[in-house]
Amino acid sequence: MTDKYRVVVVGMGKRGMHHALAFQANGRFEVAGVCDLDKDRLQAASAKFGGTAGSDAFQVASAVKPDVFCFCTLPKLRREMIRIGIESGARLIAFEKPVALDSREGSEVKSLLAGSGVKAVVSHQHRYGVHYQKVKEIIASGALGRVHTVYGTASGWMMHMMSHLIDYMRWYNGEAKGEWVMAQAAGAGKFYDLHPSPDYIAGFIHFANGVRGVVECGAGAPDVPEVDYWWRKCRIGAQGTDGFAEVLTGGGWRAVTKSGASSGPGCMNYDLDMPPYIQDIANWLDDDRKVHPCNFDSAYEGFEIMMALCRSVLDGGQVALPLSGVRDEIHSLSARLPGRKVLLSTPANAKEYTPAKAAPEPAAIR
Ligand SMILES: NC(=O)c1ccc[n+]([C@@H]2O[C@H](COP(=O)([O-])OP(=O)(O)OC[C@H]3O[C@@H](n4cnc5c(N)ncnc54)[C@H](O)[C@@H]3O)[C@@H](O)[C@H]2O)c1
Repeated sequence: MTDKYRVVVVGMGKRGMHHALAFQANGRFEVAGVCDLDKDRLQAASAKFGGTAGSDAFQVASAVKPDVFCFCTLPKLRREMIRIGIESGARLIAFEKPVALDSREGSEVKSLLAGSGVKAVVSHQHRYGVHYQKVKEIIASGALGRVHTVYGTASGWMMHMMSHLIDYMRWYNGEAKGEWVMAQAAGAGKFYDLHPSPDYIAGFIHFANGVRGVVECGAGAPDVPEVDYWWRKCRIGAQGTDGFAEVLTGGGWRAVTKSGASSGPGCMNYDLDMPPYIQDIANWLDDDRKVHPCNFDSAYEGFEIMMALCRSVLDGGQVALPLSGVRDEIHSLSARLPGRKVLLSTPANAKEYTPAKAAPEPAAIR
């Protein structure tokens, strides 16, 4: 027996390995079980971490009875994994964004967690980047004066990127809740993807503190020419009465305030972002008052905003928050958006955004 928190990691792909390595490297955790459907990935993970290994998450979790149940499977598996984590007796569930694929599943995940009292964190770990933190520091110092606008853009599509953008926009805006949103979308090619999304979605968020949010994801989002690596073409920032500060995921930070212009380096880096993200899991397990910055309740606020933006595309006009009732937003959107080619903001987006051949079958989405 050890006094370390015992962890099961399910889904030993890119993000599962990042999580398992960071848990193992932190002296407070021990990876006691690994799980993947893919034999080769499972074998490789088992050789690296030891412990219980298997292809059935329920069996691995039941055998290990972990303190932390972590899953990094693709987005279509959320409710089932949350249920397995709760039934395993874990005290904390750590999982990957997005929270869910639609509000029906998201609200089930929320109810399961609320009914169980199990803590949960969602991996919006970019928050730990030095450049992300520098922008937060400038905003919190008051150097921007009264913040009136927060914004986020990404070339990647919604189910990959919007969860991140909204999370950091809310962080830069003091974690304010959204009151209503309004949005438009175009292009159906990415409804076939494992992260099903409109090719392009853009919208406004009215936050409860009066601050305006402007968010854009996908084919029509503005290029970030300062950044070469396509997936890191994200710009997130805040404007106030006295200036602005913004982070580029792959290109540092910059600010203009009353005291002049300033800038600095920083690039999204899993090796640097994961250790403090994992340390904050230990801190929250140790002490209920040390709530993890990436806690589920905060992520759920962002998730509801994302689903409200989708509903605005479906229904037109403004959508109030919190959402009323549950819907299958992505499936409904895939049936609604025409298959005509989306217009691009930069030729660099052409390799990712191609027209949909036909409306995808529901099975391709859920
Ligand atoms: N936070 C971030 O910065 C970030 C970055 C990339 C991806 N992600 C998210 O991480 C998640 C995983 O992405 P990835 O790139 O690691 O994917 P991946 O395809 O590399 O890995 C997923 C793994 O899950 C396994 N799997 C699927 N169903 C399973 C099941 N029922 N039981 C056990 N194993 C199962 C697959 O075999 C695969 O090995 C996605 O939700 C994605 O959006 C987050």
